[in-house]
Amino acid sequence: MRILGIETSCDETGVAIYDGEAGLLAHTVHSQVDLHAAYGGVVPELASRDHVRRLTPLIRLVMTEAGTRAADLDGVAYTAGPGLVGALLVGAGLGRSLAWGWGIPAIGVHHMEGHLLAPLLEDPSPAFPFVALLVSGGHTQLVAVTAVGRYRLLGESVDDAAGEAFDKTAKILDLPYPGGPALAKLAEQGEPGRYVFPRPMTDRPGLDFSFSGLKTFALNTVREELARRDDTAQARADIARAFEDAVVETLVIKCRRAVAAAGVDRLVLAGGVSANRRLRARVDAMMAARGGRAFYPRLALCTDNGAMIAFAGYQRLAAGQHEPLAFTAMPRWPLEALPPL
Ligand code: KG4
Ligand code: ZN
Repeated sequence: MRILGIETSCDETGVAIYDGEAGLLAHTVHSQVDLHAAYGGVVPELASRDHVRRLTPLIRLVMTEAGTRAADLDGVAYTAGPGLVGALLVGAGLGRSLAWGWGIPAIGVHHMEGHLLAPLLEDPSPAFPFVALLVSGGHTQLVAVTAVGRYRLLGESVDDAAGEAFDKTAKILDLPYPGGPALAKLAEQGEPGRYVFPRPMTDRPGLDFSFSGLKTFALNTVREELARRDDTAQARADIARAFEDAVVETLVIKCRRAVAAAGVDRLVLAGGVSANRRLRARVDAMMAARGGRAFYPRLALCTDNGAMIAFAGYQRLAAGQHEPLAFTAMPRWPLEALPPL
């Protein structure tokens, strides 16, 4: 079974072809970073229009690279939510229409299920059951996973997502959009321990997160320290490092609790923030100390991409699930509402 996957939930146009036997045949991502950079963040209407421009040529490109004609495809998977509604509608509209034209089934994929299953595209891939830490620009969730579609939410952010906290703190540090990678890069130059940021909600039991206080803490620290220190470039790097260390340690503490509570020795990291090197290293060390193992996808499959949508769609289409001819885009969509296979 060969599936075309389309991702257009935010500021990346991702297209891929996944084959049940041969694996990932081709995938490509067009990032809109340059388009939104001047505005310091994603402009939804510009995002939708760019998806309209890019999607058809990217589909052609990926089909050529995969040596795949329309007649070779058995289904189309598109991101149906959560995300920006206009952006979602572009992928859903084209994906559903292509499937209708080609006479094959289509499936609307949950973006976070895509992220969650992306590590299964890698070798070795995690066996079920596992705990997943989903950390993206819009979500921070700990999920107990027993099978595809069997997700139990263990904890989530009560305010900002981890990626959102990275992006907002990056802005405070005058770093360009997208802030997360820029902040991580600046933190490399920072002196560890020069500043100590709080580890929110780690002093009490529970698996929820709160990251909005960290950006306020960063703002106050920036105001005080940039006025006080002459070496402002180094001060900014020190603050970036303190922020990153606080987020990473908070995530690791909650992951440790979650795998202990769920009684599993496999932890999956997914979503854009799982591209963070320090997070990967700390999670690796924590799981190794427990005699377990952490899994995360290659960098290109951590941030938004079409491969994870093709793969998640394949799982569901192969189990006989598909959409009626009408398509919907769901800007908000709880992961736990998904049916099992
Ligand atoms: O999954 P993703 O590509 O898009 C969403 O579904 O939101 O995640 C994007 C988020 C952004 O907030 C971005 O700043 C963050 O992931 N991010 C990072 C890194 N790379 C991307 N955060 C910290 N360190 C990174 N290296
Ligand atoms: Zn994402």
